[in-house]
Amino acid sequence: MSAEDIALEDQAELSLRPRTLAEFVGQAQAKEHLAIVLEAARRRNQPADHLLFAGPPGLGKTSLATIVAAEMGAGLRVTSGPTLERSGDLASLLNGLNEGDVLFIDEIHRLPRQVEEVLYSAMEDFQLDIMLGKGPTARSIRLELPRFTMVGATTRSGLISGPLYARFGHVARLDYYTAADLCSIVERAATILGVTIDGAGAAEIARRSRGTPRVANRLLRRVRDYAEVRGNGVIDFQAARDGLSVFDVDDLGLDRVDRAILSALCNRGGDPIGLSTLAIMVGEAPDTVEEVYEPFLIQMGFLRRTPRGRVATQAAWQHMGVDLPDTARSLLEALDEDRQDASRTLFD
Ligand SMILES: Nc1ncnc2c1ncn2[C@@H]1O[C@H](COP(=O)(O)OP(=O)(O)OP(=O)(O)O)[C@@H](O)[C@H]1O
Ligand SMILES: [Mg+2]
Repeated sequence: MSAEDIALEDQAELSLRPRTLAEFVGQAQAKEHLAIVLEAARRRNQPADHLLFAGPPGLGKTSLATIVAAEMGAGLRVTSGPTLERSGDLASLLNGLNEGDVLFIDEIHRLPRQVEEVLYSAMEDFQLDIMLGKGPTARSIRLELPRFTMVGATTRSGLISGPLYARFGHVARLDYYTAADLCSIVERAATILGVTIDGAGAAEIARRSRGTPRVANRLLRRVRDYAEVRGNGVIDFQAARDGLSVFDVDDLGLDRVDRAILSALCNRGGDPIGLSTLAIMVGEAPDTVEEVYEPFLIQMGFLRRTPRGRVATQAAWQHMGVDLPDTARSLLEALDEDRQDASRTLFD
């Protein structure tokens, strides 16, 4: 894709972003918790407690952060873990906040440690300790900060340090969406984009969207392209099916990279493959394989992480249409026994 195409896609995504909790489809429990936290804060006339949104990419963390600010009638400042390189970057950002503002830090698990330490007192006491100078003449000064709401988003909550995690007043975990919720998301997006789609067409796109709204919206746009160029512009079941197969999305919604991962694992007797080797085999960064592709393959029951590396499950071999070799079968059986042993020791 050219830079221009990417900009256009970004714009399309922006226009589809839900703006209020009511427009945010699915995730009923996360939404209910959030509605209570925000309403309580509004009644007390205080900023909401700090919030952490965790879950795989494209499930709505950034959308929720903007919704929090909108629902609180608050200003929103947006930054991300990797862009805050020095503690001074964060200090000046904090210093520029107004009372009640929402500070959104995306990919918060990627904050450098010394920057993270500045956050502790800012989050807990709304104070900022800054060191001036170096060596024996160094002194620290303390700045009072306005009360603000910190919203963090992460695809890897396991990488967030204990002290930082503990300073969030509420953690919302987003799960993959049901096909029914994705169907509503596709229908809503079609309305916004002015695309004619029938129930069966929307259901087919929803079913193959990897449980992910961002993917659902992207597939909708590609199927729309297909329907406009090869059909009459209307998305029905047939147009959805044909369009998705043209764009390499298989019957379960696995894309080219998902299948490359499974086919790498489903060869040579099915030996475990380490993450970095697997990433090279499919031409993606290890982080991308681990954060974007694996969670869904695990959720589908196609991939397992073991101490020796990644392995394909029996269902994966079947989906790829390859006979399960005996070596792989015994490996999977051994893993199942280990798992049973582990749970036995847990409950004994
Ligand atoms: N619950 C929802 N209802 C409707 N649309 C949604 C919902 N969640 C996400 N979307 C759509 O999916 C797109 C991606 O969502 P968002 O950018 O909020 O995901 P994210 O979790 O921040 O992803 P990442 O981890 O990659 O930053 C949004 O632009 C929006 O159009
Ligand atoms: Mg995001």
